[in-house]
Amino acid sequence: MIKVEGLTKRYARTVAVDNISFEVEKGQIVGFLGPNGAGKTTTMRVLTCFLPPTAGSASVAGFDVLEHPLEVKKRIGYLPETPPLYPEMEVTEYLRFVGKLKGIPSGDIGRRVDDVLGRCAIGDVRNKLIGKLSKGYRQRVGLAQAIIHNPDVLVLDEPTSGLDPKQIIEIRELLKSLAGEHTIILSTHILSEVEHSCEHVIIINQGKLVAIDSVANLTNRLRGAEAVAVVVDSDGGRPNASDVQQRLEQVPGVSRVVMKDTRDSRLCFEVESLQGRQVRADVARSVVNAGWALNELRPVGLSLEDVFLQLTAAEQTEAQKVQEGASK
Ligand SMILES: Nc1ncnc2c1ncn2[C@@H]1O[C@H](COP(=O)(O)OP(=O)(O)OP(=O)(O)O)[C@@H](O)[C@H]1O
Ligand SMILES: [Mg+2]
Repeated sequence: MIKVEGLTKRYARTVAVDNISFEVEKGQIVGFLGPNGAGKTTTMRVLTCFLPPTAGSASVAGFDVLEHPLEVKKRIGYLPETPPLYPEMEVTEYLRFVGKLKGIPSGDIGRRVDDVLGRCAIGDVRNKLIGKLSKGYRQRVGLAQAIIHNPDVLVLDEPTSGLDPKQIIEIRELLKSLAGEHTIILSTHILSEVEHSCEHVIIINQGKLVAIDSVANLTNRLRGAEAVAVVVDSDGGRPNASDVQQRLEQVPGVSRVVMKDTRDSRLCFEVESLQGRQVRADVARSVVNAGWALNELRPVGLSLEDVFLQLTAAEQTEAQKVQEGASK
């Protein structure tokens, strides 16, 4: 449904997007994740025909953004970083106006407006001036204008930014209800947002594609078969933390042992294993055989945050290597 190939966008000397390629299948909900300045908004503006690419191509539903911008725009609903709202208009009046602009036949407009008022839960403010709405409501009106012509593809630039937790949950629910019939790409720099709303994630950093995968795969990707939290009781300083750490490090298949905490006479570690190695049973045996009390042993998932930091750190290391190579 969305296809981006070798896309590059330069602003004067800044390379905002650097040769990125990805595809989004119909009905998918994809998170576009990256820190500030990564190039998310720039990519979205190219996809929605607001900016021409410097190099490479992008197409939506088979239509190229440069060759057939009108066809692309018909199929896309776009919520920019700052929603394009008119503060002096009432909500319904504004949505009717946008509907007309987007070419909805006048006989259908009333029905479409009622539909999005309901979907975005803004029926109770339908006769209010947009300028008098709270930030969360304004964001919902922004979303309503993006979906009013029932587009195949939704491009949402930070749809939950500035919302309170309750509003965030409501927007997430709304997005989930839209997925399936719509293809959605949403940008965010908040990792939990992706974990909650998306099946797939595209990570960019400094204009470059860092990773593209399913959320589930990504969280598994950079760690071994498992990471386990191990808690050992320590009575009067025995055993001490370094003894336990050393012993855990000697368990076959263990790649790394990280000391987490030593509160309340408990020693907490995170034990990471090599890819494909199940170490839980050996870890348990090792602790028990030493005569220590094993208080807890449970698998822990690597958060998307860890994965993201590892991925972007790996990128930097690669870049440093290249630089070092060049300066030699
Ligand atoms: N109109 C512009 N002129 C010059 N440089 C720009 C312009 N718009 C963006 N940039 C630069 O391009 C890079 C990518 O910006 P972009 O807005 O796409 O990032 P982003 O991922 O959306 O960031 P954020 O999370 O802060 O919204 C940044 O270095 C930015 O300074
Ligand atoms: Mg942005």
